[in-house]
Amino acid sequence: MDSKINILEQKKAEALLGGGEKRIESQHKKGKLTARERIHLLMDEGSFEEIGMLVTHRSTDFGLDKERYLGDGVVTGYGNINGRLVYVFSQDFTVFGGSLSETHAEKICKIMDLAMQNGAPVIGLNDSGGARIQEGVVSLGGYADIFYRNVRASGVIPQLSAIMGPCAGGAVYSPAITDFILMVENTSYMFVTGPNVVKTVTHEEVTSEELGGAMTHASKSGVTHFACANEVEALNHIKQLLSYVPQNCEEDAPSVPYEAGNELRPVLNTIIPDNANQPYDIREVIEQVIDADSFLEVHKNFAENIVVGFARLAGKSIGIVANQPAVLAGVLDIHSSTKAARFVRFCDSFNIPLLVFEDVPGFLPGTDQEWNAIITNGAKLLYAFSEATVPRITVITRKAYGGAYDVMNSKHIGADMNYAWPSAEIAVMGAKGAAEIIFKNEIAAAKDKDAKWKEKEAEYQTMFANPYRAAERGFVDEVIKPEETRMKLIRAFKMLENKVDKLPQKKHGNIPL
Ligand code: HXC
Repeated sequence: MDSKINILEQKKAEALLGGGEKRIESQHKKGKLTARERIHLLMDEGSFEEIGMLVTHRSTDFGLDKERYLGDGVVTGYGNINGRLVYVFSQDFTVFGGSLSETHAEKICKIMDLAMQNGAPVIGLNDSGGARIQEGVVSLGGYADIFYRNVRASGVIPQLSAIMGPCAGGAVYSPAITDFILMVENTSYMFVTGPNVVKTVTHEEVTSEELGGAMTHASKSGVTHFACANEVEALNHIKQLLSYVPQNCEEDAPSVPYEAGNELRPVLNTIIPDNANQPYDIREVIEQVIDADSFLEVHKNFAENIVVGFARLAGKSIGIVANQPAVLAGVLDIHSSTKAARFVRFCDSFNIPLLVFEDVPGFLPGTDQEWNAIITNGAKLLYAFSEATVPRITVITRKAYGGAYDVMNSKHIGADMNYAWPSAEIAVMGAKGAAEIIFKNEIAAAKDKDAKWKEKEAEYQTMFANPYRAAERGFVDEVIKPEETRMKLIRAFKMLENKVDKLPQKKHGNIPL
């Protein structure tokens, strides 16, 4: 038996070395960790159980029969993060550049199937040169097997992708389907076609980092939700992110112990500037309302005119969507609508209640927005809120104008509780524009047109730039002092804890994509 155990130990030692010492050294020189080092940092100490450590590819073309590595370029298995089960695959760049072979794909599919059957998140740590070139279509089939599972798992179990090296060509579509992408600055990139092809086709000269690096995708395209300074930060973000999220769609969102205290926040009474056109940072409101230091902002550098992220309120996970008056006056545009819509749908998929802070002057006008389909894209946010069945609460801090009033989780599209601060202005449009339209003739007939316009503007302002018309109708449930916001929200979310709401029976809806 001893000699047999020796053989096993030798094989395991061989597998642990991946593509060998030299390639591990080269990986480190690039500022990257190995697949196993990443898993070690991600999982609770000693909890990782590897599956398929001895798998090898079955290819014989191009001399591959003579080049086999145990594990075939991906470490797969399960373990715990903060005591909760997760499944993980971590691509090993030291073996054929982490490229995806038929067997490499089978290993990933195996843990995805287990994750689905057992209702726990899947985390992918991506570091790969793409399809195993020597294998051809077999490798492409392997990708498609993964994409298919990504889609089937969407909304059932949380799926997270960290990009920690190359991720190019069709390979990008697996992370793209998952719920969240994290990228590492300077050592990772994602693109469908790389700089060389771009140069040939469009004559543009760009580096990999410019074309598809972490900050590019965090700020310009929105493909990644987090740009992390290094791999350790990315792995820590994964742990933090999972702490807000249930294991699967059947579970409630997790909570942490919370001790009630004085829930009044008087500083909120002084945040809204006297001048309604002056900006303020909605994050200050968020920080005051939620449990201390509990905000994890998602998509921080993308479409900054809307802020989304996870937080805890009285220990319970919530998702926050907030117009940001400090950027573009908090206007809704294509990117902010799609950013928020995707976040709302994630929260709703996984039973995370939604809190909305509203201060929005309307939708952004212009040919750029119209020609790029603000109609279709704005509709995504409207759709996402309307179909969400989780507890939903809105607080209007200041402006709620036009269609944006309806879209931002209004009572009419199913919000459970709608609060407004006394500073709220809820109307079809701003007073100046409104006066120009409805008092057009009066203004034209007046001797002093400007004075008349101002008079009518003031009239409209007094009549509508307040929360009371909406409160009279019950569109706003209560006008509250800003300092009471946290207290009111804690109580209201508690009241909504057992909410049951179901969509009509259907195959699936048809969100305007
Ligand atoms: C097989 C690969 C490979 C691949 C890299 N290697 N990519 N082996 N298939 N796709 C091997 C290299 O031969 C090398 O082996 C080792 O991995 C490390 O690669 P290097 O080139 O030395 O590393 P580096 O300089 O860091 O460059 C990394 C890279 C480059 C940028 C990823 O390797 C590269 O351009 N690879 C090809 C990328 C590609 O075109 N993939 C196919 C895309 S199409 P040794 O033995 O020297 O260590 C695709 C379609 C998917 O993926 C479609 C899904 C629907």
